[in-house]
Amino acid sequence: MVLPAPEPPLIPHVIVTGGQDTASRAVVSRIRHMTRTAASRSGINPFYVMEVMRAAELRLAEGKDVLHLEVGQPSTPAAPKVIAEAHRVLDENVLGYTTSGGIEPLRRRIAQHYDEWYGVDVDPEAVMVTLGATGAFVAVFMAAFDHGDRVVVPSPGYPCYSNTLHILGVGGVVIKKTIETRFQPTVEQLEALGPVDGLILSSPSNPTGTMLEAHDMKTLTDWCRANDVWFISDEIYHGITYGQSAPTALKFDPEAIVINSFSKYFCMTGWRVGYAGGPKEIIAAINKVQSQSTTHTSSISQAATVEALNGPQDFMKEWVETFRGRRDYVVKELNNIPGLSCPTPVGAFYVYPSCAGAIGKKTPSGMEINNDTDFVTGLLEDEGVAVVQGVAFGLEPHFRVSYATSTENLENAMGRIRRFCESLV
Ligand SMILES: Cc1ncc(COP(=O)(O)O)c(C=O)c1O
Repeated sequence: MVLPAPEPPLIPHVIVTGGQDTASRAVVSRIRHMTRTAASRSGINPFYVMEVMRAAELRLAEGKDVLHLEVGQPSTPAAPKVIAEAHRVLDENVLGYTTSGGIEPLRRRIAQHYDEWYGVDVDPEAVMVTLGATGAFVAVFMAAFDHGDRVVVPSPGYPCYSNTLHILGVGGVVIKKTIETRFQPTVEQLEALGPVDGLILSSPSNPTGTMLEAHDMKTLTDWCRANDVWFISDEIYHGITYGQSAPTALKFDPEAIVINSFSKYFCMTGWRVGYAGGPKEIIAAINKVQSQSTTHTSSISQAATVEALNGPQDFMKEWVETFRGRRDYVVKELNNIPGLSCPTPVGAFYVYPSCAGAIGKKTPSGMEINNDTDFVTGLLEDEGVAVVQGVAFGLEPHFRVSYATSTENLENAMGRIRRFCESLV
């Protein structure tokens, strides 16, 4: 058999043979390459949490200190059994690709977890392991929605939903939520939107920490089913609740799509393990998408995560109690600071205070505080406290504080936020 002659390289500026013409073509090509611009789909807002993190890192690089209250990640590592299992897998070299849907012991254990926690029957074949909850909602959006579909995204809410939908050419229809409905959407609001194809919710919510009660969840899932709308329930903060536990959407609608992750309750943000569960047809579609985009999440993380569910979970329960103490402390402190007011969340590890009383004032260095972005910028500059502006989540003038950091950091930060607010004139 005669093999075809090799094709010339596709990137002309690496052509090393040929005369003048080839050389000048290469130069022109390089210029064209340099003037190319990013696709319009990248014209989304940045993920402000990461932007604040970057500003905080720059400040650290200048030798100044920073208290990190911007990132939603527990200040404790994964359980010892998880870490030990990761070591074992590395030592025994049982690495390599896994199937795209994730290793069978993990899918089976996740299904069992839904039975243990909520009493719902989930088929392991209807579970898809993903790269965190982020990997799950990106793959779910790709598999469930077509270009031009309309998906309801609550605001204030997690900003990556609408940005991802925008990237995919799917319309994000924003529902403005208010404190009167505990920052959760109502059927009346949905009815007013005209035909839609999907609704994504996170309960407990990021950034407000409010929760849908069981009967509200049922009303919304019933409405979605009756209207042929995908109900997508992001259950990433389940387990981190301070009163009633959060109900899973699968309890009310076996055809809902649930998204979850080991990032928060199991303290495994960097391990990048999440999952989607739902009707087998959509899971098969998600599998097709993931197998050709990211393939699967790390084999080491998958193996170790089985132990997150098999091992003792008592320490997580203790953590939730610690979070509760921190929540109470932070809410009390913030409500005693001039210019701020802070509702009490019932889940997750964020508070979302209003800074309305600071707007229109100036910092001692003369910087005007015209909105919440100015507020968080001034707070980082003057006091080294990193928090995220409310505009990032859709409600101004607010800011989000993560109390998943250490108690010592929180106490220090509350003192600095007070000093900053008292310094405004
Ligand atoms: C509501 C919500 N969904 C998804 C994510 C992403 O989580 P993961 O680390 O599992 O990708 C976050 C992270 O903060 C979140 O708050």
